[in-house]
Amino acid sequence: MSRDLTIFVCQACAYESPRWVGRCPNCAEWNSLVEEVRAQASTSKRERRKQTRVKPIPITEVETSAGVRMATAIPELDRVLGGGIVPGSVVLVGGDPGIGKSTLMMQMAASLTQQTVLYITGEESLSQVRLRADRLMPKPHDRVLLLAETDVEVVEQILEQAAADLIIVDSMQTMHHPDLESAPGTVSQVREVTSHFMRHAKAKGVSVFLVGHVTKEGIIAGPRVVEHMVDAVLQFEGERHYAYRILRATKNRFGSTNEIGIFEMHDGGLREVANPSAVFLAERRADASGSAVVAAMEGTRPLLVEVQALVAPTSYGVPQRTATGFDGRRLQMLLAVLEKRAGMHLGQYDVFVNVAGGVRIDEPAADLGMAMAIASSLRDVPVRADAAVIGEVGLGGEIRTIHHIEKRIAEVQKLGFKQLILPRNNAQQIRTGQKIILTEVETIEEAMRALLQPNGGAK
Ligand code: TYD
Ligand code: MG
Repeated sequence: MSRDLTIFVCQACAYESPRWVGRCPNCAEWNSLVEEVRAQASTSKRERRKQTRVKPIPITEVETSAGVRMATAIPELDRVLGGGIVPGSVVLVGGDPGIGKSTLMMQMAASLTQQTVLYITGEESLSQVRLRADRLMPKPHDRVLLLAETDVEVVEQILEQAAADLIIVDSMQTMHHPDLESAPGTVSQVREVTSHFMRHAKAKGVSVFLVGHVTKEGIIAGPRVVEHMVDAVLQFEGERHYAYRILRATKNRFGSTNEIGIFEMHDGGLREVANPSAVFLAERRADASGSAVVAAMEGTRPLLVEVQALVAPTSYGVPQRTATGFDGRRLQMLLAVLEKRAGMHLGQYDVFVNVAGGVRIDEPAADLGMAMAIASSLRDVPVRADAAVIGEVGLGGEIRTIHHIEKRIAEVQKLGFKQLILPRNNAQQIRTGQKIILTEVETIEEAMRALLQPNGGAK
């Protein structure tokens, strides 16, 4: 009853078509359909039904393995994982090529001194991996086993003999299952390889880290189709030209997805950044116009970042608006609010905004800081050097309440700022006894009066 079926699968979105088309009808990607052969299941439904041996059991009788997480000795990684590696979990680690995924995986392997780690490399030769590992801190120990193999069935046989506590697959796009005719990295191969390692992980209680490359659009093509299968998806991000790398959980069955880990790339591999706020503010020129400090939150952690704006007269017909690390539509909105509610005429100006250090901030609490940076640049008056800003800007020019106010204040205080501009409603929730001046504002104009004084920078 076995019959092979040829289908065409979009490598960007996994859409399936019975015939080839030049453009995917689902995601509109050009030339993304690849022929794949799918072997039909030979067991009939009835046969399968007979094989079923499992039966429902009360939830209270289910055994758990809670509390036995493996700590990796890399606190930033543990935090993102939700407190260490859960045995039997499958984690997908995605990121651009060259961002440092292999480095992070090797450092994790090296830090697990009590466990046997199997590092399966499909991209680099054994000696290349060894060369890189020799430069890293900490250096790997002899319980880190290397294997250069891309056939999952061979890997399976090896795992029967050499039991490992943790398996790292670098990368999943180079692995293949011999029964499938499609090339490694195609949607069906990636699916098959993932389910292979999933079965192994769940049966043996071994944790598996699958490394996957993302495309330039920022989505994990190929690996994206397995996001729903795995237990956690970690995204390793950063601007290639900056040393900072941010590890973010976009899915986590065993913890929060809000946490991030911040690393810096050195000669000796990735190093944790202990005080990220200080690092991100280190190069700030406080006397220049167009710069403001925002007390942002990354997960449960406050982070002070510098937002910058440059407003310059347009030399072409249509004014440009360019945002790096900040949402472009949010920028348009802020410009419209500044125009309408604060009487700033920006129609003849190009506006460029940037978040320093290659950081990306998505929360509305950064609105007011960005608006102040824009106003500061337009008027060419610096923002008060010792003040930080938080607040969401509404369409009416009103400053709206934000969350986690206490943590943000604590961070602002810790970094030696003397003043915080915050929404009025937030100011009223705060207990007295703060060491810094809290300036409450209700409208964008009030904030400008508080921050952009003619002697703003001098103090
Ligand atoms: P790598 O981990 O190979 O990236 P990926 O697996 O995500 O493709 O990291 C590659 C980059 O990191 C490369 O540009 C060199 C840099 N790097 C350092 O700067 N220092 C180091 O100690 C290591 C190992 C890599
Ligand atoms: Mg790599």
